[in-house]
Parts: sequence; structure tokens; C-alpha cells
Amino acid sequence: MDYKDKKLVEEKVFKDPVHRYIHVRDQVIWDVISTREFQRLRRIKQLGTTYLVFHGAEHTRFQHSLGVYEIVRRIIDDGFNGQAEWNDEERMVTLCAALLHDLGHGPFSHAFEKVFDLDHEKFTQAILLGDTEVNAVLRRVGDDFPQRVADVIGKTYPDKLVVSLISSQIDADRMDYLQRDAYYTGVSYGHFDMERILRVMRPTDEQAVIKSSGMHAVEDYIMSRYQMYWQVYFHPVSRSAEVILIKILHRAKDLNESGYSFAQQPVHFQSFFNRTFELEDYISLDENILLTYFQIWMKEKDSILSDLCTRFINRNLFQYAEFDPATEYRKIAELEKLFKEADIDPDYYLLADSSSDLPYDFYRPGEENERLPIYLQMANGDLSELSRSSDIVDAISGKRRTDHKIYFPEDIFTKKQHENPLYAQILQLLRS
Ligand code: NI
Repeated sequence: MDYKDKKLVEEKVFKDPVHRYIHVRDQVIWDVISTREFQRLRRIKQLGTTYLVFHGAEHTRFQHSLGVYEIVRRIIDDGFNGQAEWNDEERMVTLCAALLHDLGHGPFSHAFEKVFDLDHEKFTQAILLGDTEVNAVLRRVGDDFPQRVADVIGKTYPDKLVVSLISSQIDADRMDYLQRDAYYTGVSYGHFDMERILRVMRPTDEQAVIKSSGMHAVEDYIMSRYQMYWQVYFHPVSRSAEVILIKILHRAKDLNESGYSFAQQPVHFQSFFNRTFELEDYISLDENILLTYFQIWMKEKDSILSDLCTRFINRNLFQYAEFDPATEYRKIAELEKLFKEADIDPDYYLLADSSSDLPYDFYRPGEENERLPIYLQMANGDLSELSRSSDIVDAISGKRRTDHKIYFPEDIFTKKQHENPLYAQILQLLRS
């Protein structure tokens, strides 16, 4: 029997708080899960710094990846199997892409990527195609199999239906993370009736569509996404922690460039500072290593690095204020000037950050990121774009909401405002 079709003697199950059980029957899937590159995802949190706001949010990319796999497995095995539009030859490539879609995420990925100018999607491709344990397992299925998995994840795979299950506006990735993040943060948003959505999902040649009777379940899903973005993902306090994290890495990088000698050599970062890193350097990093360095750096003689690390480790975060970049740029310039006068480096202590989300969009030809819309399948078989049937979805379609904030260490100024008139002046301006 082909390795691709080989079944385990006994089904393996993972107990999962969101999907109850994750079922593994295929040898290939079991072998992929056992690789060191996949196991590494246990040491990368799904929501980065969010645990500093919602203390339950300690869940990892490992759990999420298994969850996405399980949703796709159910769509294929319980829903699509046997239907004319579904080609069961695509089953294994789809399951592997679901399991591995986040494989290249690094520690606190957003912050790390930003400071070192990296792209986790490129690392996903590199791990799939490089000299890795994952690649060795996938190659046993077929010489071109690693590339096929990479193409599904990179959205260039010829079978569009397969791609849509992993990345579209109603895909297994989103369905898992919304529910999982809601569960672990403990918020009441983020819940929707996934069972119902899976029951009404239908395969077409181009993408998975939703039987029109399932429209209300999809509305609920879109609204839960909308709520989760603003209540959890863009929470200003978790952004504040992320801003500090970015500045810690930024400071360490700048110090290294200026020839500063660290009390303890940051060996894990050296190749990223110098941009000489190899895939192995990236794979061997995780969040535990970063947090260990932050603890060590709390005692560094550079006062900025030690202060930022102490703030992060002890959760003494920056305060924030709303600001409108269109009308308040003068205020920022003024603040920068005052910070410098007060001998507080605005590059590390006065930071602007923006969040922005588009809850749902329909197809607009020519746009840079053309988004595949969600289609309802009507009783006569015709497809109708969701916002044409749903007033609720229509109301939020194509509407980008953006939110700008500035972050600053208010505690420094409040402590000494009575001794130092400059601090009082800064505080007044920050609060205005
Ligand atoms: Ni994901």
C-alpha cells in the first residue's frame, strides 16, 4: 500500500477543548506531527502578548494547527467525500496544508518579523522545502509532494477548492482561531455555530460555498470575527506589550550595531543582528529563549534595554492615548522635542501604533489583495455573493476601521511631575 494511504493500526486522538477530539488515522499525518519542526509550535503562543491582558491566552500554534487540520478533515471526510466536485486524490495534500499552514511562525512573530524584517510565510515554505524532518516525511509521499503542500499554503495550487479550505474569508484557519481564541481568552464573542456551517458547506470547482439556508450561521461567524478583532486582537494593552517587545529587540539590535558589549553574549540573536542566519537558526528559536534573554537583559548596564525588559517581564506597560495622525502630527513633534529635553529617548519611549481591519469584503477586480467573497448557493443552484442577501453583512462590507494610538511611559512623568516642570508639561500635553 502507498505510504499516502497507509492507516495507523489504531486511531490516535488528541483531547481538545474546542473540538473535543482531534482524530488521526493516517500514518502521514501522525509522522508530520512527530517532526521537530511541528513540535516546535508548542513553544510559540498563538496570540503573542495577549496573555498579559487575558491571562488564559497561553494556547499555542501547535493546538491551533491541530484544530485547523481537524476542521478540514471533517469537511473532507464527512462532507465532501463522494461528491462530484471533490477529488479525493487531493485529500492528503489538503490535510497536510491545513496542519502545516502556520509552520513558519517565529517567537512573538509579529514583533520579531518587524524588527528583523522577516516573513513567516517564507519560512513556512523554507521549512517545507528545505533539509528538515517535515520535508523528509512529505517526500515519502512523492517527490513533488512538499512543493504541492507549499503551493496550497502559498495559494498558487491549481485546485482552487483545496486552497479555499485553508485560506478564504470562511476557511478552517479562521473557524479554528476564532473559537479557540474566544475559549482561551474567556470572552463571550467569537462563538458561532460551526457545526451548522460545516453541514451546509458545499464543494464547487472554484471554492467551498454555503447552502443559502446556512446564511444566518455565516452572519454570526462574520460578526464574531468583527468583535474578536476589536475586543481581543487589537486590545490596546496587549498592543502596548507588543510595542515594548518590539522596542526591546530594536534596542538590542541597535546596541549590537554600535559595538556595545553585552554582559552575556546574545548568541541566539547574533545571526539575526548580522543577517547571516540560516534556516536552522530560525527553527531553534522559540518564545522561551526570548523570555530568558529578557530576564538576563533586565540586569544589562544599558538603562534603556534593562528598563524595557523589566517593564515587559513585570508587566509595567506603557500607557496609551488616542491620537489622530491627520490633525495631531504637530503634537507628536512637540512631544518628541520635550522628551529629548527631558533626556528620554522618544525612539524607545514615544510610539505610535495603528490597528486596522476589514471585517468582510467582496471581490473588487484589480485590488492588490483580491479577496474571494463568500457565496451562498441558492435553491436553483445559482451562487449569490453573501452581502447581497444579508443586510447585516452588507452593513459592514468593505468598511475598514482604523484606530491610532500613542504609547508612552506615563509612570516616569507622574512620579516626578512635582519636582520637574518639564515632566508636568509633558504630562499635560499627553493627556490633552
Ligand atoms: Ni492559522
